[in-house]
Amino acid sequence: MLLPFREYLDFGPTPYEQLQAKEGIPIAKGNVVSDVTTLELGRWERMGAKGCYLNLSHQQLTDAYVCEIPPSGETLPQRHLFEEIIYVVKGRGATSVWQEGGAKVNFEWGPGAMFAIPLNSSYQHFNGSRDEPVRLFAGTNCPRMINMFHNEDFIFRNPFSFRDRFHEGDAFLRYNKHVTDRTWETNLVPDVNQFALDDFPMKGKGVKHMRFTLADTTYGCHVSEFPPGCRSTFHRHGPGAVIIVTQGEGFVMLWKDGEPRQRHDFKAGTVYSPDDLMWHGHFNTGKGTMRHFAIRGESPKYSHDRFRNPLWTMIPMNEEPPEIHREYVEILAKNGVKAAVSVVED
Ligand SMILES: [Fe+2]
Repeated sequence: MLLPFREYLDFGPTPYEQLQAKEGIPIAKGNVVSDVTTLELGRWERMGAKGCYLNLSHQQLTDAYVCEIPPSGETLPQRHLFEEIIYVVKGRGATSVWQEGGAKVNFEWGPGAMFAIPLNSSYQHFNGSRDEPVRLFAGTNCPRMINMFHNEDFIFRNPFSFRDRFHEGDAFLRYNKHVTDRTWETNLVPDVNQFALDDFPMKGKGVKHMRFTLADTTYGCHVSEFPPGCRSTFHRHGPGAVIIVTQGEGFVMLWKDGEPRQRHDFKAGTVYSPDDLMWHGHFNTGKGTMRHFAIRGESPKYSHDRFRNPLWTMIPMNEEPPEIHREYVEILAKNGVKAAVSVVED
């Protein structure tokens, strides 16, 4: 029998947990949040808005949050020494980003937009509607940074400007390049559901994909598309990925070696996050296209794939438990959808 590498010692709340306790907004834990559009939020003084932390998959490397800005409202200006990637769940508005002594760069966004805040730049979000609240979903590496430095002044009031990461003026929105297959660099994607993706058959028949470097972050993200009848293969990696479904419906299947499989249905607005080395596969069960936006790992520009953990692997479909695909094909048949792969052959 394998034993834990070391005993568990409780030294009390981590610096990240102390920050969360001070901020006092709700905290979602576990692996799945069924709908961020209806998730209960609390008053978030630091942001000047409402919010909820999502610290999923039993880790303190990354987290996510949902922030709601009321009609005609705005957040308080923010600045912090952790990276942040934002997806607009609903509503329309604008964001200003700026560095000390520099001009503000302003850009507008609507539902489905994604962008990142250049590291340690100041920023402020504005709701452009008089009637509808805005809901933003953001992934951050705040837990890793606050736990490493355990000093809120250093993280939230640090005067250093990363000039190399900031595109001034018009260059901010002009920074837009398809670097190579399935790899893009930019500051803003207007709608992840409309963005043209590249084929990625290794991930599953019909699957399309694009990895992004946003605002020169080292924190990575990607968009995946699953046409009707398509699913991914199972794979696993480190903890802390957050995946938000942006279009369509289906289910995710999760399991860890030696533990039972869990199946969770999803729709646009569902967020899930596999634990460390938890196998996961994404399945489109609907008549339309399913897409998701995942914030995880390293951005293409700064990834060091040669150092990847050899346990981060994928299961070829003909080696996964056969009942999984049989069940998927049955669900598709009930929904009147033809499976892209009807039978898995040896
Ligand atoms: Fe994954």
